[in-house]
Amino acid sequence: MRKKIVAGNWKMNKTADEAQALLSEVINMVKDEVTGDVKVVLCTPSIYLASAQQQVTPGGKVSIGAQNCHEKASGAYTGEISAPMLQSIGIEYVILGHSERRQYFGETNAQLAEKVNITLQNGLIPIFCCGESRDLRENGDYIGFVKDQITESLFHLSAESFGNVVIAYEPIWAIGTGLTASSAQAQDMHFELRQHIAGQYGDTVAQDTTILYGGSANAQNAAELFARPDVDGGLIGGASLKAADFLTVVKAAQ
Ligand code: G3P
Repeated sequence: MRKKIVAGNWKMNKTADEAQALLSEVINMVKDEVTGDVKVVLCTPSIYLASAQQQVTPGGKVSIGAQNCHEKASGAYTGEISAPMLQSIGIEYVILGHSERRQYFGETNAQLAEKVNITLQNGLIPIFCCGESRDLRENGDYIGFVKDQITESLFHLSAESFGNVVIAYEPIWAIGTGLTASSAQAQDMHFELRQHIAGQYGDTVAQDTTILYGGSANAQNAAELFARPDVDGGLIGGASLKAADFLTVVKAAQ
């Protein structure tokens, strides 16, 4: 079901004390200051997930998410974590296919289709990331490329299963660069993706799909981005590492 979501992707940041301080501050600020209908998801490094999960109420305003999981249920995959492990500690969301994992760890659309399957099989909500490079944006069929990411990793799903997926459009050229996509650019791509989804599953499923924007979204630009009709919230990196900035972004979505 379509809903307003602001997810903080902490990436590989914060020592244990720093993480606990940020977590406590955000949870308390959301409880005291966020009255609107917006879901906050905090995607901490995996080492902190179990303790973070103990500090939120399942199904409450704040949920905890992982930044990745393996496509197998278990086995000899040193260093990896699995969807059953995440489910066993109550984690609700998991980011999949972030461009940094595609770039540094070679994740493919086919591999991500398997990751989507096992997360859904374990009752987790995948936040599926897609987005184009600067070169493709400037010189190629960037819309077709992003549509193909969705087609190849998600369109094998039934309409019912697809209804549990959150999409995050993150133009690579905007991630960590300060070069935020304009709200018009974000809206244009979100509209294209929603139409693409409608072509596969029909208008009802497409309209019920949550599509987040990520890429240098922050306290200054979130309100304009989230005001666009097909932008249902954000996947926030740098601006999620400071509680006050992140809360401004959350409030912009409500
Ligand atoms: O997953 C969100 C992230 O890729 C965006 O990072 O720092 O540009 O908000 P940032």
